[in-house]
Amino acid sequence: LDNGLMRTPPMGWLAWERFRCDIDCQNDPKNCISEVLFRDMADRLAEDGWRELGYVYVNIDDCWASKDRDSNGRLQADPKRFPSGIPNLASYIHDRGLKLGIYGDMGTFTCGGYPGTPLDKITIDAQTFADWKVDMLKFDGCYSNATEQEQGYPAMSKALNATGRPIGYSCSWPAYQGGLPPKVNYTQLGEICNLWRNYGDIEDSWNSVLSIADWFFNNQDVLQPAAGPGRWNDPDMLVVGDFGLSMDQSRSQMALWAIMAAPLFMSNDLRTISSGARTILQNKVAIGINQDPMGVQGRRLIKEKSGSIEVFWRPLSDKASALVFFSRRTDMPYRYHASLGQLNYTTGSYKPLLTRRTPTSGESSGDLPSIATPMVSHPSYCNLPLCL
Ligand code: DGJ
Repeated sequence: LDNGLMRTPPMGWLAWERFRCDIDCQNDPKNCISEVLFRDMADRLAEDGWRELGYVYVNIDDCWASKDRDSNGRLQADPKRFPSGIPNLASYIHDRGLKLGIYGDMGTFTCGGYPGTPLDKITIDAQTFADWKVDMLKFDGCYSNATEQEQGYPAMSKALNATGRPIGYSCSWPAYQGGLPPKVNYTQLGEICNLWRNYGDIEDSWNSVLSIADWFFNNQDVLQPAAGPGRWNDPDMLVVGDFGLSMDQSRSQMALWAIMAAPLFMSNDLRTISSGARTILQNKVAIGINQDPMGVQGRRLIKEKSGSIEVFWRPLSDKASALVFFSRRTDMPYRYHASLGQLNYTTGSYKPLLTRRTPTSGESSGDLPSIATPMVSHPSYCNLPLCL
């Protein structure tokens, strides 16, 4: 969507995968969906070095709303869990140099059973979000049919634009259409949404990360050209820092999401995150690759028949390239030899910047080399498989 927003993939924090629809603030006051949770995460983003790296969105997901609209027909936050109201939360977040994202649903109800935004409520809800000074909307698709979605997703794009407030727009529409043409029209999505969920929800497990990565790279011929500045495929949240991934699996998710030009929304508890997970999420090289201004999504170049190794490539600005070598082997490291020639880097001069290395103890991710120096330079992208 050409609204000047999200020219690189948006980065921040999103409540859903880690905190779900926990509304039990009596017994679980620190983790329930309430203003306390979002203020806590804003504090952490602002104070623990995340904001400076680009993680600026604090995003509410489902279960924030009151079950009833107010007397003017407007959505309202649950008064017990958000006693100060969303506008106050927005200013708390803005005061810390961050942005607020909210969640709605193109349909009668949200997936969690809260009030949705049917077609006749699109204008009023867009205006409410703008009045509250919200900066991003994730628009889910439960409780609507294909015809309603066909009208509703473009209508919300127009309604947000008509408010005059810059609001990033995340569409779950393609995920409800099955993710692929002919049902999904990626040209249209690029015109109406800044990012879109193409596929099912991530869970806190390695199998979930793998199935998502497989789906995106197996369908790269369709998905890869759809992405670019202002319009991104969204393989869903980063679960690094939760319970399901080992450190190597966490590094893999970060590397694959970086090469995919994926939005980087962490769903974890930034109050208690381990230093290992933080180091991975704050890796400047990975973030620099993810945020490359050219905005070309990466592709899988090689999938060895044994299934043990895959090589991914993303072209970066200044004729640089990023490569990911990904092993699925879990019993021991996989020995893999490749030359740049085998990877179809046939001409040009190569200057490796980075072999996969994590900071040693006492070294911060900031000590790792910056992405500003090209990793591999070559004269033209078109001696590479992407251009074939
Ligand atoms: C389905 C979405 O895909 C999830 O990311 C989350 O927003 C839930 N709905 C909330 O109910």
